[in-house]
Amino acid sequence: MGKFKRNLITTALPYANGPVHIGHLAGVYVPADIYVRYLRQKGEDVVFIGGSDEHGVPITIKAQKEGVTPQDIVDRYHKLIKESFEEFGISFDIYSRTSSKTHHDLSSAFFKKLYDEGKFIEKTTMQFYDEKAGQFLADRYIVGKCPFCGNEHAYGDQCEACGTSLNATDLINPVSAITGNKPELRETKHWYLPLDQYEDWLKKWILEEHKEWKPNVYGQCKSWLDNGLQPRAVTRDLNWGVPVPLEGAEGKVLYVWFDAPIGYISATKDLTPDWEKYWKDPETRMIHFIGKDNIVFHCIIFPAMLKAEGSYILPDNVPANEFLNLEGDKISTSRNWAVWLHEYLRDFEGKQDVLRYVLTANAPETKDNDFTWKDFQARNNNELVAIYGNFINRTLVLTHKYFGGIVPERGELTDYDREVLAEIPAIVGRVEKQLEGFHFRDALKECMGLARLGNKYLADTEPWKVIKTDEARVKTILHVCLQIAADLSTLTEPFLPFSAAKLVGFLNIEPVAWAKMGDGVLPAGHVLNEAGLLFEKIDDEQIQKQIDRLLATKKANEIANAKVAPAKSNVTFEEFAKMDIRAGRIVAAEKVAKTKKLMKLTVDTGIDTRTVVSGIAEYYTPEEVVGQQVSILVNLEPKQLKGIESQGMILMAENADGSLAFVRPDKDIKPGSEIK
Ligand code: MF3
Ligand code: ZN
Repeated sequence: MGKFKRNLITTALPYANGPVHIGHLAGVYVPADIYVRYLRQKGEDVVFIGGSDEHGVPITIKAQKEGVTPQDIVDRYHKLIKESFEEFGISFDIYSRTSSKTHHDLSSAFFKKLYDEGKFIEKTTMQFYDEKAGQFLADRYIVGKCPFCGNEHAYGDQCEACGTSLNATDLINPVSAITGNKPELRETKHWYLPLDQYEDWLKKWILEEHKEWKPNVYGQCKSWLDNGLQPRAVTRDLNWGVPVPLEGAEGKVLYVWFDAPIGYISATKDLTPDWEKYWKDPETRMIHFIGKDNIVFHCIIFPAMLKAEGSYILPDNVPANEFLNLEGDKISTSRNWAVWLHEYLRDFEGKQDVLRYVLTANAPETKDNDFTWKDFQARNNNELVAIYGNFINRTLVLTHKYFGGIVPERGELTDYDREVLAEIPAIVGRVEKQLEGFHFRDALKECMGLARLGNKYLADTEPWKVIKTDEARVKTILHVCLQIAADLSTLTEPFLPFSAAKLVGFLNIEPVAWAKMGDGVLPAGHVLNEAGLLFEKIDDEQIQKQIDRLLATKKANEIANAKVAPAKSNVTFEEFAKMDIRAGRIVAAEKVAKTKKLMKLTVDTGIDTRTVVSGIAEYYTPEEVVGQQVSILVNLEPKQLKGIESQGMILMAENADGSLAFVRPDKDIKPGSEIK
């Protein structure tokens, strides 16, 4: 790693207020894990830091909604998130949390040092205060009418209907989300980091000295810096977080984005007594893996904090990814538009690597990307199964079949054999180059290139034919294939650690060292284990189940968001009483031929038995409705529908998606009883 002696790899600390989904994995944790596993393979000194971000307003809102404490919320999700990461093989050296004592102490001391050295400015501003709740209101806690689009439920920081960023004071008729009270403006004092004072330094450090950062990262930094930086408040009026360690600052905590990145430091401190070596020695190379919404915090604000503090190193790179969408729509926790990791594992048990593979092959490295279940299936079936799995399977099956599972002697190599073997170090070199540039998709493609090469070699040399005439040649062919297989187990390990371990098991070897790839490490006579399948086909039914689940979510969201029809003007009781509505019972039903919607119903109204044509055929079958009670308007003018006289109307409730449901007595009622 050139001028560096060790590596400190951090991953954004996810908020512990919901489970993690494929977007998290694709954007941050899988690429970081690949990188770390690669560094470990290379024998580098590396620590891999993760943890939960357990402060911030949304956590307190969620707690309030559920009637539990913020600590209950973060305990629940910290556990769930930690387990999900473990299950997917994200190989953190520590997965910490910002509610820990170490973290509170360290971030408090960090703030105090900056305060004592006069690095903050103090400002008094007017902020909404809820008298009834006895607290200042974070912008998220204030709702009111959006001045731009008129949405009545805009939040103090943003209107979700039109997407505009707001200040709480912009809202028309603001009310407290806690009590519904009208809040009043009160004075409050806060501490600000004067980012403007760091602007010149940041410009030089990023725009001149880190031109190698990914274009999406560099571009975002440049636009922030070009727009000019303002002082940023680093404290809030809130009762959940790290208390501001100053006299007279009761009821105030550090802003979540001030304490959270310090979480990287406290996690390292929890991991090792040697933590200062990782954080203070310029020979440490620090890399932050994050999503694009975190760029400004990691490239501008946190470095300014570190610079102000003075004793810490700065990141060497911040390879932020863009976003992963799901089936064409933005992933959203509130709309449940996501593939949750714990749910994935329930439906695709043992298939962690398939998801790791697809999320890497399709990673949003330079632009937003889309995850689709069809693509997931295709990549599994056509790439993992058909290329990698197929090569391994054929190699192992043939070795077991012809040589009893014993690595055969290698005879004279042909030019072609030599050419194929020479490709191994070339591929390894290209994988390294891509990984070192954070090009994980291309690195994975190169790895698959080795499996492809193995497949082609088998197809070209046809050992299943040659065995009939030249056993010695087949020995050499399979020997070569087994070397490729062993190397694949190491080369793919950073990407597909579970399958790599499986393959190592089939081969019955110690993992091949990274530096030994291409050296031919399987000696003749070595006994292989019984082989199984590395990957399995995923069938249409499994995929359809996932697609159906998403369609159901979409429909549920549409219904939840649909506008209710506006109220109609009043009617008099006399007008209402003109309608003769009765309880009835359907005694016969059939679909009206050549129509999609219409059903011909024979209804016992208690007065008579009559025919009604009803538009329910898309939602009910004739068999289902026969015998059902209904409400029927019996004095509606008869009407001809498709040549049938319809005598009355069955009352139906129309759902937001247009589907229909019977409105009927909730107990059995004698037909003919009046509904009024
Ligand atoms: N919790 C933040 C998010 O999910 C990320 C925090 S990263 C850290 O967007 F650096 F602050 F820890
Ligand atoms: Zn709006």
